[in-house]
Amino acid sequence: MPGSITVRPYEARDRAAVRHICHVTGYMGEPIDWQWKDEESFADAWTGYYTDVEPESALVVDIDGEVGGYLLGCVDSRRAWNPVYVLARHALMRGVAFRPGTARTIWRSVTDIATDAVARRLPDPKFYDARWPAHLHIDLLEVARGKGAGSELVRRWLDSLRRRNVPGCHLETLAENKAAIAFFEAIGFRRMGRTPPVPGERARDGSRLHSQLMVQDLT
Ligand SMILES: CC(C)(COP(=O)(O)OP(=O)(O)OC[C@H]1O[C@@H](n2cnc3c(N)ncnc32)[C@H](O)[C@@H]1OP(=O)(O)O)[C@@H](O)C(=O)NCCC(=O)NCCS
Repeated sequence: MPGSITVRPYEARDRAAVRHICHVTGYMGEPIDWQWKDEESFADAWTGYYTDVEPESALVVDIDGEVGGYLLGCVDSRRAWNPVYVLARHALMRGVAFRPGTARTIWRSVTDIATDAVARRLPDPKFYDARWPAHLHIDLLEVARGKGAGSELVRRWLDSLRRRNVPGCHLETLAENKAAIAFFEAIGFRRMGRTPPVPGERARDGSRLHSQLMVQDLT
């Protein structure tokens, strides 16, 4: 990798940076604050389990001593927190269901779930399949992209899974995130299953966004 970009294991001092990067890349690599302003709940839902329960499965991109991105891994996906429950807890305990900047998305989720349940197109709330028990989340700041750091993070994560005889890894992205899908396909993942609409989330033009499951066999 060029220059001073390196990949290293996650350390506890990286936690705040990881949480912030999660929020500022949360909309397909762009900030998600226009749709979900509350960084605390968003970071808890998408990084809390990985940094606080399974930190040994996390890696970061280090650019001149600053965290420029991360891969957050989970070896056994049955253990990971369900983001829906984490957000529901914040909705009730911290009142984000009634705050400007989050309330609209929460109440839209409720109506989407009702509509999608009737149409039988709800996504699996927590995917688990013993063929691909592990999963990952990966996000890099723009400055760190396109330099091989993402593929190095994934290569190191998949190597660590192979060493433990884990048979496969999955991930979920948005079907609309064409760059991410091209990246994951370039490093050996394949698309799997249907692409149900994601409750609550919207594109900038108001259209619905869809979940895309991707898998890679490791044995
Ligand atoms: C997606 C992401 C992790 C890729 O990491 P990266 O370091 O930029 O990717 P790499 O430089 O390792 O690229 C590896 C290969 O993936 C493919 N690829 C990477 N970015 C791509 C893009 N924007 N469009 C098409 N293909 C791409 C290429 O084949 C590339 O190989 P090449 O450089 O020889 O052409 C990173 O760009 C990112 O964090 N994006 C924003 C957040 C995001 O979308 N995360 C995924 C959410 S599930």
